[in-house]
Amino acid sequence: MKVLGIESSCDETGVALVLAEMPAGDGAAPTPRLLAEALHSQVAMHADYGGVVPELASRDHVRRVLPLARQVLAQAQCSVQQLDAIAYTRGPGLAGALLVGAGVAVALATALGKPAMGVHHLEGHLLSPFLADNAPQFPFVALLVSGGHTQLMDVQGVGRYTLLGESIDDAAGEAFDKSAKLMGLGYPGGPALARLAEQGNAQAFALPRPLLHSGDLDFSFAGLKTAVMTQHRKLGPAPADHTLADLAASTQAAIVDVLVAKTVGALKARGATRLVVGGGVGANHRLRSQLNDAARRLGVQVHYPPLHLCTDNGAMIALAAALRLQHGQAVLQRSGAFDVKPRWPLDQIDAG
Ligand code: KG4
Ligand code: ZN
Repeated sequence: MKVLGIESSCDETGVALVLAEMPAGDGAAPTPRLLAEALHSQVAMHADYGGVVPELASRDHVRRVLPLARQVLAQAQCSVQQLDAIAYTRGPGLAGALLVGAGVAVALATALGKPAMGVHHLEGHLLSPFLADNAPQFPFVALLVSGGHTQLMDVQGVGRYTLLGESIDDAAGEAFDKSAKLMGLGYPGGPALARLAEQGNAQAFALPRPLLHSGDLDFSFAGLKTAVMTQHRKLGPAPADHTLADLAASTQAAIVDVLVAKTVGALKARGATRLVVGGGVGANHRLRSQLNDAARRLGVQVHYPPLHLCTDNGAMIALAAALRLQHGQAVLQRSGAFDVKPRWPLDQIDAG
């Protein structure tokens, strides 16, 4: 089965094609394989505005999605008639941007008489490590760290997700982005702050580790952002480069410390032997190295998506849909096609 995936929830238009074999008699099937992928990032377009402008994002998705789809199909030498399903990001995300991907996917699927499958964006991130060479096995604990969400999940199988904890205010990516913005590092802030942090001293500023000892698996990053703002103000209008690098390093350390501590808490609570990390912040080097160290101590195996598939892409959407098809959980979603607020975690199979 060939599944085309379209991601258009924010500032990246991603299209990809995945090949999935259907389970044999024993119910087992190999992990779906990525055949081709293409991505257009809108970062340069939004940079002048210091953040994503939703209307510009939607219009750019309109411009990019069909050329990218043609590129992917040509690369894989696949015709549209050979597609078996069209998947798209159903939400969460910017409404106008989501509508572009949903509209194209549903129109294409209807014209071809094939299923259109709405995929929850976070399910795409959660399953994206299956695109890596050493795919994880169920069950596992998942740490989802994106620009809009920070969540710990207990994952028993495809579609069997239980929320263990989440951020009660800002997401980890948001903490990176907002701290970067107030330090004058522009957009997108996370990678810029991480780069600057490499030259700084992580112990230079004593920043809070919110909810570190709360005894649960929830996160809070809004207070940290305020503490960074206070420290930044104290530095005056033109802080020295090395001082700003110290503040970036201290900020990154505070975010990573909390993420690692809570993840360790979740692994211990579930007695898990596998950890899966998904979402843009999963590209962060300090987070990866500290999670790897903690996991080694616990005897836990960690799985990440390939680095370029940590941030938004079409491959994770195609893959999530393909895994659902393999597990008999695919649904033709006619009525729910434009529902931009799907339930999460998806603990039930959607009925079309
Ligand atoms: O998953 P993603 O591409 O989009 C959402 O679903 O939100 O994640 C984007 C987030 C942004 O907040 C971005 O600043 C952050 O991931 N990010 C990083 C890094 N790369 C991306 N944060 C810290 N370090 C990075 N290397
Ligand atoms: Zn994302």
